[in-house]
Amino acid sequence: MATIDQAQQTLTFPDGFRWGVATSSHQYEGGNTNNQWYAWEQAGHIRSGDRCGLACDWWANAERDFDRAQAMGLNALRLSLEWSRIEPRMDEWDAEALQRYRQMLQALHERGIEPMVTLHHFTDPLWFTARGGFLAGDAPERFERYVTHAVEALGDLCDFWCTINEPNIYAIVGYQIGRFPPGHHGDLRNTIRVQASMARAHAAAYHAIHRLQPAARVGWAQNFGMFDPIRPTSRLDRFIAHMAEISFNDLFPRAIQTGAASFPYNLFAGDLRKVQGTCDYAGINTYYRDLVGLDLRQPWQPFKRIVASGAPLSDQPIGISWGEVYPQGIARAARLLAPLGKPIYVTESGVADRADRLRPWQIAAGVRAMHEAIAEGIDLRGYYHWSLVDNFEWAEGWSTRFGLIALDPETQERTPRRSAAFYSAIAQANALTLEMLREYVPNAFDAPAVTS
Ligand code: BGC
Repeated sequence: MATIDQAQQTLTFPDGFRWGVATSSHQYEGGNTNNQWYAWEQAGHIRSGDRCGLACDWWANAERDFDRAQAMGLNALRLSLEWSRIEPRMDEWDAEALQRYRQMLQALHERGIEPMVTLHHFTDPLWFTARGGFLAGDAPERFERYVTHAVEALGDLCDFWCTINEPNIYAIVGYQIGRFPPGHHGDLRNTIRVQASMARAHAAAYHAIHRLQPAARVGWAQNFGMFDPIRPTSRLDRFIAHMAEISFNDLFPRAIQTGAASFPYNLFAGDLRKVQGTCDYAGINTYYRDLVGLDLRQPWQPFKRIVASGAPLSDQPIGISWGEVYPQGIARAARLLAPLGKPIYVTESGVADRADRLRPWQIAAGVRAMHEAIAEGIDLRGYYHWSLVDNFEWAEGWSTRFGLIALDPETQERTPRRSAAFYSAIAQANALTLEMLREYVPNAFDAPAVTS
């Protein structure tokens, strides 16, 4: 067990390490009314009752936030393209939308910020949803056509692509938990089929991009939930933690590594052989840990989720709970992905924390976990903090705040949190120093233990 306060020396990162922020189209742009998330909002499914509205107003004014990122000394920014803008109706392409994305990418380059472009971040055009979403037989081809168009139009301004954000969350929260559209509950079969279809869509996109840009770097962003046994000595709890981890994290990385899914997921996944080897890097998104174990009072649940006592909790969503804030999971996820033999980026990590009481610790602990992974020989090349500005948090609307910079969505006024200065100091030094910890994480000495 090590704690942040035991950091005696400066943690320096390799030259060229990317210090960035992650964002997404629907959560930032505003005015997206042609995707399934807008329909979901109209149907009253945003728990806080909020409207996405202008979001962070990026469709008109992203450049102002790019200025802020530049002033912070960041050298990387992950943003996504809104498929429903680029292909508003099937096979119809919107040149103006692509032109706006060209401006945005150009603006990033002018500020010395390297864009990583995500091609799918949870939102589908309404026409795609109406055809069955990723359950439609030709979904991978449809996705490939869109990606081809986007890369033809933007390829001179970007060679760093993230095909799909968190296929596991899209599938699990949409088809099993029901909090994301289409709102199915317990539909295990389609949870697997959707992820498998997304893996085939990813593979088709991977090849399409490489046909246009042989030197492109193409990967995806996988969400990693961390699960540990409630009673580490119990074989049963350990087994349940292992099964939870497999069912949550494993399908996509395994398909890319081996071209197959493990039992019993292979029963529904279909042919994944073409998925094997389709990545130039892997992205880790990680936020939480849950302790799990057998709970006989909940026989309908294969495991019980609980939060470790004393562990830090973020601001919580309405009606469910998010697990323990667990930036240390970065090192664990990096170890899980290391066998792929590809560079790794932390494409997201962050915390819902309006008061900014945990965020400095979360950043410091995440940076420490990355340093640990690199010291073990893992080729980890960058960190994209979720997120630059408070943004529209899906089913939670504006009720949970992930920004380094606070936003009043009514006035669009921005107020940097202390964490923005802390992260900026790390990015500019390409290092985390003890002085920074003293200044920005004074409560590190009471902070939760960093266990691994
Ligand atoms: C998603 C983001 C989201 C963040 C915080 C990730 O699962 O990719 O879109 O805002 O977590 O919940």
